Amino acid sequence: MSTLFTGISELHTVSEAGTLDDAAIVVTDGVVSWVGQRSQAPAADDIVDCGGRAVLPGWVDSHTHMIFDGDRSAEFEARMSGGSYEAGGIAVTMDATRSAGESRLEQLLVERIAAARRGGTTTVETKTGYGLNTESEVLAARVASKYADDVTFLGAHLVPPGADADDYLDEVVGPMLDGVADYANWIDVFCERGAFDETQSRRVLAAGKERGLGVRVHGNQLGEGPGVQLAVELDAASVDHVNYLSDADIEALANSETVATMLPACDLSTREPLAPGRRLLDAGATVAIASNLNPGTSYTSSMNFCVTTAVLQQRLSLDEAVRAATFGGAKALRRHDVGGGLDAQGRPAKGTIVEGAAADLHVLDAPSAIHLAYRPGMPMTWRTFVAGKPAF
Ligand code: NIG
Repeated sequence: MSTLFTGISELHTVSEAGTLDDAAIVVTDGVVSWVGQRSQAPAADDIVDCGGRAVLPGWVDSHTHMIFDGDRSAEFEARMSGGSYEAGGIAVTMDATRSAGESRLEQLLVERIAAARRGGTTTVETKTGYGLNTESEVLAARVASKYADDVTFLGAHLVPPGADADDYLDEVVGPMLDGVADYANWIDVFCERGAFDETQSRRVLAAGKERGLGVRVHGNQLGEGPGVQLAVELDAASVDHVNYLSDADIEALANSETVATMLPACDLSTREPLAPGRRLLDAGATVAIASNLNPGTSYTSSMNFCVTTAVLQQRLSLDEAVRAATFGGAKALRRHDVGGGLDAQGRPAKGTIVEGAAADLHVLDAPSAIHLAYRPGMPMTWRTFVAGKPAF
């Protein structure tokens, strides 16, 4: 079954082919099978006329915490009155999440992914990290694995109140890791003051690696620290937040395969300095942009908003921001460039519109993508297609 997507005023392939005007795409069995000028498009079984709109790869949201219940608007409001963000707020969400029950967590996750799709997101990573005991973390990983593209085990998000840190880490790298290993493909740690130090973080990541999980790190969010260097040393796919970076951190990232994932909505909500995207790109690092949807620091799945912020506030060009939120996110999940074929798990590449990539398409309700930043906050997503099928 093939579908011709035509009437594309501006096509961002996010590949060497660049941006094409008056373009068309053919999708066959969920994968892009042809890309080029509309006048040269081959026939297909079906047609979607985009009506003179811009098309991008769907957003790849490589950092979310979608498995939670509860609300921390009071904490947010206090912060807006001058308070600062403290990792301890995670425990409030832990209580609400532990008492939610499986069907409610599942319903909340489905609603959150549906909202993300309505905003142009086609790939969603999500994490555990609000259960903080074996039973609740395994439940979170199991629920996440039913709906998310990638699942990250973040048992090392915070030492739960009243627990001893070493005892808790024994549980994280022991029964908790055993329990989530069938559902998660990544391990992560919040390597930050108030959460886990370098030695503790190293222990968690080594245990996950040993179990065959890929590594990612929350690092350098609240101050300079060891997160970035640890991530690069362990060949983590990404280090996320990256607000406070030394010159040595930037150089290490630029000389590595580790993606620096920026979370601009979180930076605004916590009133931390925005991650230094311009410096990272100028040094040659790969950057990603993700939403960081969570109830404490970033209660939004709007990648449109994050991309807009990167252009308006972080001085990325539109093309750089689009690339960071598509190809960058895919690289942060190690789902980028698979040479037009399939990866070792039989999955097509994400984050680009090239032959052989997943037909994950974001059709903007605008003739060009610069409208994302030019008309900030306006509804910008016309349709979203996942593997060539309408996502809403
Ligand atoms: O990515 N930084 C750590 N974890 C989340 C926030 C967790 C919370 O406060 O609920 C984040 O910002």
